[in-house]
Amino acid sequence: MAEDRAALPVNDLSENDAAAELKRLAGEMAEHDQRYHQDDAPVVSDADYDALKARNAAIEKKFPNLIREDSPSLKVGAAPSSGFTKVQHSVPMLSLGNVFDEADVADFFARVRRFLGLGDNEPVDVIAEPKIDGLGFSARYEAGRFIVGATRGDGQVGEDITANLRTIRDMPDMLMGPAEDVPDVIEIRGEVFMTKADFDALNTSQGKKGAKLFANPRNAAAGSLRQLDPKITKARPLTLFAYAWGEINPLNWDSQQAYIDRLKAWGFSTNPLTQVCTTVEEALAAYTAIGEQRAALPYDIDGVVYKVNRLDYQQRLGFVSRAPRWATAHKFPAEQAQTVLEKIDIQVGRTGSLTPVARLTPVNVGGVVVSNATLHNEDEIERKDIREGDTVIIQRAGDVIPQVVQVLTDKRAKDSTPYAYPSTCPICDSLAVREEGEAIRRCTGGLICAAQAVERLKHFVSRNTFDIEGLGAKNIEAFFEEGAIKNPVDIFTLEKRDADPDNLTPLKNREGWGKTSAENLFAAINEKRTIGFDRFMFALGIRQIGQATARLLAQAYGSLSALRSALALAQDRESESYADLLNIESVGAAVADDLLAFFAEAHNQEVLDGLARELTIEDFEAPDTDSSPIAGKTVVFTGTLETMSRNEAKAGAQALGAKVAGTVSAKTDLVIAGPGAGSKLKKAEELGVEVTTEQDYLVLVGKA
Ligand code: IVH
Repeated sequence: MAEDRAALPVNDLSENDAAAELKRLAGEMAEHDQRYHQDDAPVVSDADYDALKARNAAIEKKFPNLIREDSPSLKVGAAPSSGFTKVQHSVPMLSLGNVFDEADVADFFARVRRFLGLGDNEPVDVIAEPKIDGLGFSARYEAGRFIVGATRGDGQVGEDITANLRTIRDMPDMLMGPAEDVPDVIEIRGEVFMTKADFDALNTSQGKKGAKLFANPRNAAAGSLRQLDPKITKARPLTLFAYAWGEINPLNWDSQQAYIDRLKAWGFSTNPLTQVCTTVEEALAAYTAIGEQRAALPYDIDGVVYKVNRLDYQQRLGFVSRAPRWATAHKFPAEQAQTVLEKIDIQVGRTGSLTPVARLTPVNVGGVVVSNATLHNEDEIERKDIREGDTVIIQRAGDVIPQVVQVLTDKRAKDSTPYAYPSTCPICDSLAVREEGEAIRRCTGGLICAAQAVERLKHFVSRNTFDIEGLGAKNIEAFFEEGAIKNPVDIFTLEKRDADPDNLTPLKNREGWGKTSAENLFAAINEKRTIGFDRFMFALGIRQIGQATARLLAQAYGSLSALRSALALAQDRESESYADLLNIESVGAAVADDLLAFFAEAHNQEVLDGLARELTIEDFEAPDTDSSPIAGKTVVFTGTLETMSRNEAKAGAQALGAKVAGTVSAKTDLVIAGPGAGSKLKKAEELGVEVTTEQDYLVLVGKA
């Protein structure tokens, strides 16, 4: 039986079995390749895919006479070549003209019409598609088989990167489909690139190895593709989109769109945002729509390319110098800019983490004025040798905080010195230490550190904790500064202190406040005097105690007083109470340390006593999972949720007895998909997992 054969060790296979296995593997892997690069929905992990590949290779090694024409191993890079051979492009690889604004686009359309002598009522369809920020390639297929691949080079002569292109999973070795649809000769052209996520992961691993870092995904793709050893290329996550052709015989399609459909059928990835536009307005709308998605796309693009759709028109239009008259690139405004890094500021977070921020000479980056950029952490500053006064290139991607991508060292002042990361807290001067294996340096000042105290207060009143309306970040900062709110208890005694006859400046008399706004604030505070124990635990802002762990602690101890007595005993690391603490899911020694440190602090005990006096902290109630429709089920949230944050959704589902997972698998019972849901939704549909909207989910759990 076939299944038995698939389980047999390679050494136990007869020749007949081996031939059948190679056939099965070729088919199965071609299918996985199709799912991976065409449907964007792989059904096996990379590890499983690699296992198939390894088995195929082992069988081929034992039975070399059985190697198939469509063998998956033919995609693996050949032996390293010594330097790249040059390849003359039989049809030159051209560049594109550029247009920069709406008037230019209108001119392009008008020029095309004029050249073709078209009347006002004769439409010229164009294809609009993203301009991929990668590397152009040309891949020659003869009788459907990949023969030779090249870089663009100078457009006339490129470098032979056949072995490297073969290692790319998206690069079909054979063109699929009916023989009559496969030309005798075709040079397929497109763009090789690296996704943003793969680029980040590659740089992280390069950094760990002390290896060279790449400035951007394009450089990483170029560095990976132009490797003399294809094994290195193979280890790099490269992908591609095909969009054009060079030499072709015979040409049997009549539009750009028809060619794209053909590419898909042959097994190539094509860009899903490609669309046909009939008017200038439609083309501009496509440009705007693609531009809006730019930041969220998994790969970098730098504009939109318009191409006249009809090939007979293209032929008549021809070329001017080295660019086609039938196509042009509409570039996006640059999202990188050069500026001066004036100063490095260190911010202190709620748990004392020191975060460096670059203060920049304000600069316009793709239409947005940027004056701050993130520097991530101490190591990043050291790795890039970023110094105050440096001229830097910054980059902005959508709503993400701008980053410093490069230091222009040749513009650096002679007397510049490396940045010395502080070893004390810039706010309270306490020692700032970096524990081994940690990327972050932390202030050890605890509650004496004003920055930490303010950040903790902000957390205490924020949406997922006490959620006190009218007590936002600005007010917290102001009350802290004047001394009216120094710790969480002060929030709940504010009204009484404000009404004290000795108080010379009651809130209602102060600038920016009046009787009503003061009363509203006190009402908002009083409204929140009752709180669930789990929410309360999260509000304390103890390091490493997030929403989920806070909930588990509440569940384990039931009430604040029970938790306080238990933790008092657990301060003794030999005690049974300590062992009990470690038995709670997600509480390891490090979390326990932070928790116990908080409860050991006399000051914190005072705050807890004060809060216990001011508040009603409700004992944790085990969720009524008997009547819960999702008790014991595994659910996954994906896409944008409209009525709740991801954390709230998760906590809510857990409270109803569900397990919340991050990925969809055969074990998933329900997927709640909001707008923008992508691969998880696809996977759920493929696996036949039940999918529901956020609204229907809320109805199901009785929260609508
Ligand atoms: S069409 C004759 N389409 O941009 C038409 N090019 O500036 C040739 N590029 O070297 C190119 N995305 O590497 C075309 N969707 C796209 C593209 C694209 C990126 C690159 C290509 C070319 C350069 C021209």
